[in-house]
Order: sequence, then structure tokens, then C-alpha cells
Amino acid sequence: MKTDPTASTNNSEWSLDLLSHRAANLPAAFNMSGAPGVISFSYGLPDEASFPAAELAQATAEVMRDAPGPALQYGAPDPLLSYLVDFIGRDQGLELTTKNLLVTVGSSQALGLVCQLLVDPGDYVVVEAPTFLGAVRTFLNAEAEVVEVPLDNEGILIEELDQTITDLKAAGKRVKFIYTIPTFQNPTGVTLGLERRKALLAVAKKHQVLVLEDDAYAGLIFEGEVPPWLWTLDQDNLVLHCGTFSKILAAGLRLGWIGGPPELISKIAALKVDGGTSPFAGNIAAQYARDGRLEKHILKLREIYRRKRDRTLAGLERYMPDGARWTSPQGGFFIWLELPERLDTVKMLRDAITAGVNYTPGPACFASRKGKNTIRLAFSHLPVEQIEPGLRILGEVIQRNLTAGA
Ligand SMILES: Cc1ncc(COP(=O)(O)O)c(C=O)c1O
Repeated sequence: MKTDPTASTNNSEWSLDLLSHRAANLPAAFNMSGAPGVISFSYGLPDEASFPAAELAQATAEVMRDAPGPALQYGAPDPLLSYLVDFIGRDQGLELTTKNLLVTVGSSQALGLVCQLLVDPGDYVVVEAPTFLGAVRTFLNAEAEVVEVPLDNEGILIEELDQTITDLKAAGKRVKFIYTIPTFQNPTGVTLGLERRKALLAVAKKHQVLVLEDDAYAGLIFEGEVPPWLWTLDQDNLVLHCGTFSKILAAGLRLGWIGGPPELISKIAALKVDGGTSPFAGNIAAQYARDGRLEKHILKLREIYRRKRDRTLAGLERYMPDGARWTSPQGGFFIWLELPERLDTVKMLRDAITAGVNYTPGPACFASRKGKNTIRLAFSHLPVEQIEPGLRILGEVIQRNLTAGA
């Protein structure tokens, strides 16, 4: 059905671009500002106190003193690209060159560029359910059809993935890529095990479908080990990998990257028409990161977020009702909470905010809007001392809603 974009709005000042068919069907953008005084587990924002502001100021002064030209001119932030080649090489044992990587405006831009490269309206993208809502919005903006495959405590279910792609192909659909967040997944916090990583790659190979691996939380591990990246395990040039400096340095820099086979990266680079990903931010980040400084900073972040994770798990243990279940992530920003079936977390949100606590209702993390009794808790942003009081309030709200619905 065609939508008339002029139907309900006084839009005489809009550009023709905004009146296009695609723009007319876009959902409203999110507002990240929380209500004042409300303890928010809602947005997965980084801990603000962790931003290394003084060191970044110093790095800025050094760049302006020593090499202002490249930082203030159009162009790619070459020092950051070289840093990434080295950083990823050391971390993953991947032998890369700068042709394998492109610096992007956060990993969000990388997700959009992959859609520009691969998705025609009506093409299919397979995602985990639940998944990162920002990615789903990007895929929908590109007019992809988004198909969900469930996950459990060890990540996406491989047989279901295989069957889903088999069925789509049998129905003549074009499946363009599998989108996965294998490590400390947003929103569940779960990590895809090694055997499943290998099995996922086997499914991709069998169907000749690309994998878009989003590793936004990869460095933020609290204990133990995680398996190698899908990109590292891939033998068939089927993986595009995106990462970000948002969670390990500062989100406001808006710096991320996409990596993969040079043939695909060069095509993505050709689509990226923007005069270069902020050379200013990129040169400063590279100056900051040199001599292992970023790695040391990441060690500090692990401690900060581990403490918050521990405090959240303890609070859940204390305040959640019988029948509630939650994940115990080994890293990242999120815990996934499943409440008794009869609760509706979308309806409960108004009550929660009035009582002084905010969260992301689970259905916001499903393209299909299911999961009505689930909640995503982001423990990353709020001060650690607010976690316990926030969960106490949430526990009371849940109890009240359970009693009212009994
Ligand atoms: C899984 C995942 N991917 C990508 C992003 C986007 O990050 P950025 O664009 O800041 O790099 C986020 C942000 O929350 C995320 O959770």
C-alpha cells in the first residue's frame, strides 16, 4: 500500500528527499534523554565517569602541535587505521592490511553501509531474537525483511538458523546476510560458544550467505575467556566484522570500523561518500591509543563494568519474585530478565517510571515485538550505588503488577 507522506503533517518545509517513499515509512527516532530523578536501566550508554577526558585533551593538544594538517583536512584517519591493523592482529592473530579495514562513524554507519551494499527492498536479513534494536531499525530503513531465529544461553540456535534459511531459499527469497552479536550480546549478554561459532560458519558456507558479525562489546570481558571472532575463524571470506570505540573509549568520538575481505571493503569504501570519517576524532583517538594506553584503559573498564554487573546480579537475586529468570553475562552491558508469563512489561513501564525506575521492555528488542514478559537491563550507565535502589523499586513494581493481575 502506498502511504501519502503529506497526509497528517504540515510538511511544507520538508525536502523532497524526506518526502520519498522510504522516508515516509520510517518509525520515529528514539529519545535518549531519561526523565530526571528516574533510575534508568534503559539505554546501553557507557559509564560517563570512565571517559578519559584529560588524556583525550592532552592527545588533542599533541595532534594540534605535531600534525594538525591531516587532522583538520578531509581524508581517512590513517593513523587509526594502522592502529586497528595492529590491535586486531595482536588480539586475534589475524594477518591484516589496511585494505581489510575501514574506519566508520561508529559501527552504526558500518551497519548502514552493509545494507547499502547488499540490500534491495524485499531482500531478507536473518537476525537473532532478541537482538540490537538499532540494527533492526537500520535493516528496516533499507526496506529489508527481517527474519528472527531464537537464541538460548549459548547464542543463536544453529538448526533453526539452517532451517530458516533453507525455507526462505525454497520460497525463492534472497537472503543477504545473517546478523549476529556473538559476544556479550545486546540485549541478552549471552556469548556464542566455539562449537556454535563453527557451526554458524558452516551454515553460512552451505547457503553461501554472508555473516555480519557485530562485536560492539568484545573487549569488555569480566572473567574467563571468549572464543575467537567469527572473522578469525572464517576460512571462506564470508564474514564482515564491525567493531566500535564507543564502548572502549568514548561514544562521542563516533568511531567504529568494519573489517572483511578487501574486495568487499573496497566496495563499501566506495559507498561511503563523506569526505572521510572525522579525521579530527580519528587522529586524536590514534594519538591517545598509542603505546598500549587504550589496552590499559580497557582493563580499567572491565573492572568498572564487572562491579556493576555483580551489583545488578546481587540485586536481582534479592528483589526479583519467584519464577523470574535472568542471564549472567561474562561481559558487556546487559542482563536479560524473564518475568512470570502473565506480566506485560510494556504496560508496566508507566508504573515503573512513576515509581522511579526505567528499563527497556523486551518487545523493543524483537522485530516481531514478542517477549512481552521480558526486560533488558543495561547496568552500564547508571552510577553503581543506584543499582540496588533501582532494583528494589523494580521489584516492588513487579510485585504490585503481579498482585494486581492475579
Ligand atoms: C550491538 C551494537 N552494535 C552497534 C552499536 C552502535 O554503536 P556505535 O555506532 O556507537 O559504534 C551498539 C550500540 O549500542 C550496539 O549495542
